[in-house]
Amino acid sequence: MRSEALLLYFTLLQIAGAGFPEDSEPISISHGNYTKQYPVFVGHKPGRNSTQRHKLDIQLIVITNRTLYVAARDHVYTVDIDTANSEEIFFSKKLTWKSRQADVDTCRMKGKHKDECHNFIKVLLQQNDDTLFVCGTNAFNPSCRTYKTDTLEALGEEISGMARCPYDAKHANVALFADGKLYSATVTDFLAIDAVIYRSLGDSPTLRTVKHDSKWLKEPYFVQAVDYGDFIYFFYREIAMEYNSMGKVVFPRVARVCKNDRGGSQRVLEKQWTSFLKARLNCSIPGDSHFYFNILQAVTDVIHINGRDVVMATFSTPYNSIPGSAVCAYDMADIATAFTGRFKEQKSPDSTWTPVPEEKVPKPRPGCCAGTPSVEKYKVSNEFPDDTLNFIKMHPLMEEAVPSIANRPWFLKTMVRYRLTRIAVDNAAGPYRNHTVVFLGSERGIILKFLAKMNSGFLNDSLFLEELSIYNPEKCSIDGVDDKRIINMQIDSKSHALFVAFTSCVVKVPLSRCERHGRCKKSCIASRDPYCGWLSEGACREVVTSTKYVDPPFFTSCCSHSWLAG
Ligand SMILES: *[C@@H]1O[C@H](CO)[C@@H](O)[C@H](O)[C@H]1NC(C)=O
Ligand SMILES: *[C@@H]1O[C@H](CO)[C@@H](O)[C@H](O)[C@H]1NC(C)=O
Ligand SMILES: *[C@@H]1O[C@H](CO)[C@@H](O)[C@H](O)[C@H]1NC(C)=O
Ligand SMILES: *[C@@H]1O[C@H](CO)[C@@H](O)[C@H](O)[C@H]1NC(C)=O
Ligand SMILES: *[C@@H]1O[C@H](CO)[C@@H](O)[C@H](O)[C@H]1NC(C)=O
Ligand SMILES: *[C@@H]1O[C@H](CO)[C@@H](O)[C@H](O)[C@H]1NC(C)=O
Repeated sequence: MRSEALLLYFTLLQIAGAGFPEDSEPISISHGNYTKQYPVFVGHKPGRNSTQRHKLDIQLIVITNRTLYVAARDHVYTVDIDTANSEEIFFSKKLTWKSRQADVDTCRMKGKHKDECHNFIKVLLQQNDDTLFVCGTNAFNPSCRTYKTDTLEALGEEISGMARCPYDAKHANVALFADGKLYSATVTDFLAIDAVIYRSLGDSPTLRTVKHDSKWLKEPYFVQAVDYGDFIYFFYREIAMEYNSMGKVVFPRVARVCKNDRGGSQRVLEKQWTSFLKARLNCSIPGDSHFYFNILQAVTDVIHINGRDVVMATFSTPYNSIPGSAVCAYDMADIATAFTGRFKEQKSPDSTWTPVPEEKVPKPRPGCCAGTPSVEKYKVSNEFPDDTLNFIKMHPLMEEAVPSIANRPWFLKTMVRYRLTRIAVDNAAGPYRNHTVVFLGSERGIILKFLAKMNSGFLNDSLFLEELSIYNPEKCSIDGVDDKRIINMQIDSKSHALFVAFTSCVVKVPLSRCERHGRCKKSCIASRDPYCGWLSEGACREVVTSTKYVDPPFFTSCCSHSWLAG
């Protein structure tokens, strides 16, 4: 075992004694034998002979306007969510976008395998009411197009996908539209050396992060981008510059840019962000030897819980150590606070990083959005004085890490052989739509579902409700190969479903399995599942907001379901 693994192990031993929540057991477990009944999408259209399978290479799934978009290799499929109920889910429309032969030939000449020289769709966004914005790797020559949302007809000219979409399908990227502008984070070159956070399209100048400056970005792996207030926030992990003396260490980060940034002056930071700031995210187990989960895997959108705006994130141990995962939650207000704190700097190439004394920070404060109260005099970012711009160019990193809510992980999973890599949250669960249920996806086709527990008005614990094994080998395996990594999950509350994407299929998983409790009230109640309620006629059913749930006049004491854990 590596020392890191040992540290995790000993940290866990220590805190087990200190009353820290250990790996908890789920209240109920559903194996593949039960979940194999769930509808699966494998790329077929209705009426087609379903025995044929081709490689889908699904990259992402998106739900908008009652439609599920499945972005795959050379194709985007649309599925009408409200009709997807049978054993197999069929697509209603398919968009085909293959790379030109010339692009494929160039890709092959550059030494790529023929399976890589395809158009993997990595960006799929609703640009406006009737337009989709789609980018693909296009055989290592990324390209973007717009399509009509309803007919999937291509519109207008193809534009370059450089800085908007990666070259290689294996690279992580994020993209979103805000005020008609595209914010993207990816790599801009074939060799994946130049990483960038980029803004383009719309009516503002095109901006990017400083090129080849490892203080700004160092081998980042982008996970999420969110539009919040005056800012766009980016969540990613990268090699920690501030730890350079101790070999390569990866830190989870949050960075932000102002939406009204128009770049620097002609002298400093022209066509580059003047507002780029970044901070470390702290997801650690308290104790004598602090254990940090550094491999940021996924982050939710901003969720509103009990009057606070939070994001939840999954973290894991590094891939070369024993598996371990944690979920931490961050208050957007705490993230904002980190960006108003001290800056971090390295005075000389070999010295350690230290906070910049307040008197050495120029005014107006670097990293602020032009025109906002503290920097009112400067209406546009290119009017900022050189001092301010030079400072931000050299000091994008904040001293303080963003603390997680309650200063500890919210959920831990350490004694299993998989990592938790995906997260989806329903913050309007239950009959009163006031419960928060979190779904975590793993590398092994397993989904964990838990309830956020509130205390003094805010979440501080979790209740592990269900563990589901949902990979369906009969339908999803291709030529005997099973890729059980969950690559994307999307909740659709209206159809009470979690759509779970693997590379070869999408499984529609109901948010609950109340029917498994049958006529057993004790088991129904014991499930603690906010989606399940006990009906007066004596059955455990999925709650619908309008239905009345009453205590039955009788009590069934049958409860010996073998699938209930513990
Ligand atoms: C699943 O079903 C098969 C056949 O009915 C049975 O042999 C197997 O033990 C079951 N597996 C589980 C985990 O229940
Ligand atoms: C589907 O194809 C398989 C093999 O190609 C064939 O055996 C089967 O009869 C076909 N089924 C239908 C419904 O056409
Ligand atoms: C949503 O889909 C419906 C039916 O396909 C269509 O009539 C409507 O225009 C769509 N709305 C948007 C905003 O795309
Ligand atoms: C969570 O709430 C309980 C009850 O108020 C409290 O005892 C516990 O210390 C809280 N945990 C944290 C980490 O705040
Ligand atoms: C992370 O949080 C823990 C718990 O609050 C704290 O003890 C530790 O110093 C923090 N680490 C960093 C780098 O801020
Ligand atoms: C949800 O709302 C119901 C009814 O207003 C209330 O009884 C319950 O305590 C609430 N639950 C939570 C977790 O806020």
